[in-house]
Order: sequence, then C-alpha cells, then structure tokens
Amino acid sequence: MDLFRTKPISQLLAEADDKEHGLKKALGGTSLVLLGIGAIIGTGIFVLTGTVAANYAGPALVLSFLISALGCVFAGLCYAEFASMIPISGSAYTYSYATLGEFVAWIIGWDLILEYLFASSTVAVGWSGYMVSFLTDYGIHIPATLCNAPIDHIKGQGWILTGSIINFPAVFIIALLSILLVIGIKESAGFNNIIVAVKVIVILLFIGFGLSHIDTSNWTPFIPPNPTGEFGNFGISGVLRGAAVIFFAYIGFDAVSTAAQEAKNPQRDMPIGILGSLLICTVLYVLVSAVLTGIEHYSNLNVPAPLALAIDKTGEALKWLRPLIKLGAIAGLSSVILVMLMGQPRIFFTMANDGLLPKSFSKVHPRFRTPYVTTLVTGIVACIIAGLLPIHILSELVSIGTLLAFTIVCISVIILRKKRPDVVRPFKTPWVPWIPLAGAAVCLMQMFSLPWETWERLLIWMAAGLLIYFLYSRKRSKLAR
Ligand code: ALA
Repeated sequence: MDLFRTKPISQLLAEADDKEHGLKKALGGTSLVLLGIGAIIGTGIFVLTGTVAANYAGPALVLSFLISALGCVFAGLCYAEFASMIPISGSAYTYSYATLGEFVAWIIGWDLILEYLFASSTVAVGWSGYMVSFLTDYGIHIPATLCNAPIDHIKGQGWILTGSIINFPAVFIIALLSILLVIGIKESAGFNNIIVAVKVIVILLFIGFGLSHIDTSNWTPFIPPNPTGEFGNFGISGVLRGAAVIFFAYIGFDAVSTAAQEAKNPQRDMPIGILGSLLICTVLYVLVSAVLTGIEHYSNLNVPAPLALAIDKTGEALKWLRPLIKLGAIAGLSSVILVMLMGQPRIFFTMANDGLLPKSFSKVHPRFRTPYVTTLVTGIVACIIAGLLPIHILSELVSIGTLLAFTIVCISVIILRKKRPDVVRPFKTPWVPWIPLAGAAVCLMQMFSLPWETWERLLIWMAAGLLIYFLYSRKRSKLAR
C-alpha cells in the first residue's frame, strides 16, 4: 500500500548532508541545551504552577512535576535515539516517515503544528499578560480591548464575542521574533542564550532567596484530601490530573531535535541537548514548586503571576525581586516563543522537501540561509491565532497534540529496532521495548485525563489534515513520483 511507503534512511542522511542547499550547521552541545531550556521554561513555571497547586495538587505539585517528568524522560530517550540516528530537521515527522510510512508521517507532521505553531501563539498570549502587568506597574496602560482575545468559548454558552478587538501585544511579539528568525539561525541562537540566562538567573534568585521564607506548616497536609471524591479534586487523583496539566511546562525539549540539521555534531550533541535541558528544567521545577508552596499557602495561588504573589508574601524583604520576576517571565516566555517559531518552519520545510507541502515552502533564503518562506507563513498564522483566541483553549490543544506525537515516537523506536536493526545508532534508548512502552503509557494516561472538548478539537484538526493529504499531498509526494 502506498500509504505505508517509507523513506529510506540512507536517503534521509544524504539529504541532511547536502552542503549546497542545506541549512547552516552552527549549533554545538551547549547551544542546544540552552535552546532546549529556552523552549521549556515558560508559561508552565511562571503561570501554571499556581493553577495546579490551587486546583488539583496542593503542595504535592512537586509530585505532579515528577510524574510528568518521568513520561518526558522516557519520551526524551526515544527522541535522543532518533535525533542522533536521523539528524534531519523534521523531528518526529521524519522519524515516522522512516518507520511507519508516509501516512502516519503526515498525521504526525500535521499534529506537530498543534505543538509548535499553536504553542507559540499560546505562550505569546501569556507574554501579553505579563507585559501588560509589567507596564501597568510603571503607569503605562494598554486599553483592555487591545490586549485580550475577541473570541472565547464558555461552557454552556458556546463561542462568544468578548468585545475586545485584538490581543495586540501577542501579535507584536510573534511578528518581531519571526523577523529575527528570518535574519539568521546563529543570530537567533545568540539572542536565545541571553534571554535563557536572564530567566534561569531569576528562577535561581527566587529559589535562593525564597528558601529562608518557607513556612513548613504550608506543606501539611502534603497531599490535601479529596473533599468530594470527584476525580482530580486533590488527593491522589488530583496529583495525577495535576501532572497532565503541568505537562505543558515540559513541552519544548523535543524542539531541540528540529535543529538537528543545524547541529555541528548531531550524533553526540542531540542526546546532550535533549536530555540535558530536560534534566536541568526538572530540577529547577521541583525546587521552584517546593519553595512556592512553602512561602504561600497553596489555596491562594490561583493567580496569573503566582511567583510574584509569593514574593509579596515575604513583605518588604524581597520587594526588589518583584519586578525582576516579571522581567524574567517576559524574557522566559520570549525564548519559548522564539524556539517554537523556529521549530515549526523546519518541519514545514522538511515536509515540503518531501513534496507533501507546496514547493515554495522548501525555499532557503539565498543570503541568510534560513527557511524564510515557512518562517513567514508560520509567523503570520501564529499572529492571527494569538490575536484572536484565549490561552485556555490553545494550551489544552497544544498538550494533547504533543502527547500524541510523543506516543508515536516511543512506538516508532520499537518498530525501527525490529525493522532496521542494522542502522548505526550513536545513542540507544536503554531497555527497549520497556522504556518506550512506559513512555507511551504515561503519555496516553495524560491524554485521557484531558477534557472531552479537547479531544473533539483534536479530531476536527486531524480530519482537516486527512482531507489535505488525500486531496493534495498524496499525489505530489516525492516518494510517489
Ligand atoms: N514548556 C513551555 C512553557 O511552559 C511550552 O511555556
């Protein structure tokens, strides 16, 4: 069946080595770790920690972070095997093209749009919130109609118009970063290194200075009892639901794999970039959530800027830290948007090279050597989504889309080990098939704990993707010709 035609790995590797038309190889191990941290630390730690502690897990937020990390580490090990073996910018899309065939590859490629493009919009909406609050602290007011979504979906009422015109700051930051990405990958990585440093320093300051203000009585009970028996309302099930929601905080380590074609030594540096960034972020997350729930009682944390709230709780002592936290968040969210906006065009670029998307999508800029057409297309679509839709609809879609991609990558590792045991694997996932199976299981468990409406939106999105595949891509696929 041509639906299951696979792309030979030798051909993939030859394409990656094409010096003349290829992308510029400029990134080393450290840059890749920083790229990963740039993509990972964002809305999750600066916004969602408070939501999860207050609504689902209490101080056991720490456990939610650890459970979610487990799924990510398993999936990360699978990504590392693939990214070092097939260092092509298409990430999960490319891996499934080599293993499960074109049809599944298309599904993944289409699904990854939910992760990268929609995540950049989601985080841009979060950025807008922090920016507006920061400016307000300094007496600069942006009218509410210019910094909120004009469309929303409310349970019981359906889709409504909110009266706002556009979320202008969200559009602004995406437009700015897209232009930067067209100019060059090296420049983008340099900019990324600076903002990553800012956000990590701010988080370390929060942990370091917050430690002495912890009131350990805030940690008891560590797992608040479930008052109603309803799934997810504190207790053990609350810790699990919390893990699914906080999963958003880890999204991004896989973005490192989309830069594989631009890595100097992908065989060595891809595993370092993926697993290194994941590990560093897990440690930071666990420490931040322990300090956060130690300073402020979890029940008060359901606010847009929980870290700033905790600092307020310490009184005058740490007042100086408050604007820094907001600046750190703004910098942090900027780098997440940047890496997401960088990952998406590279996946489009690879799909276009395979003939599944229009040929113009595979154009590389003659001077900057960046995939500028796809970068601009991504930027424009992300601007429209961020300008119109609210954060809660976007973030759940991103989570379900990403979890689906992780699940397929885990399974692909097992399949390719069976089908092509001969291919050189510079990095091997340990204990195959157990680690990939466990990874897929943890991801599926998290998917099933997301609301039904999110599943519906995922299915509609996928149906649209199938339509495009059968009407357009299937006939134009390079493999078909
Ligand atoms: N992990 C990224 C964030 O928390 C997507 O914003």
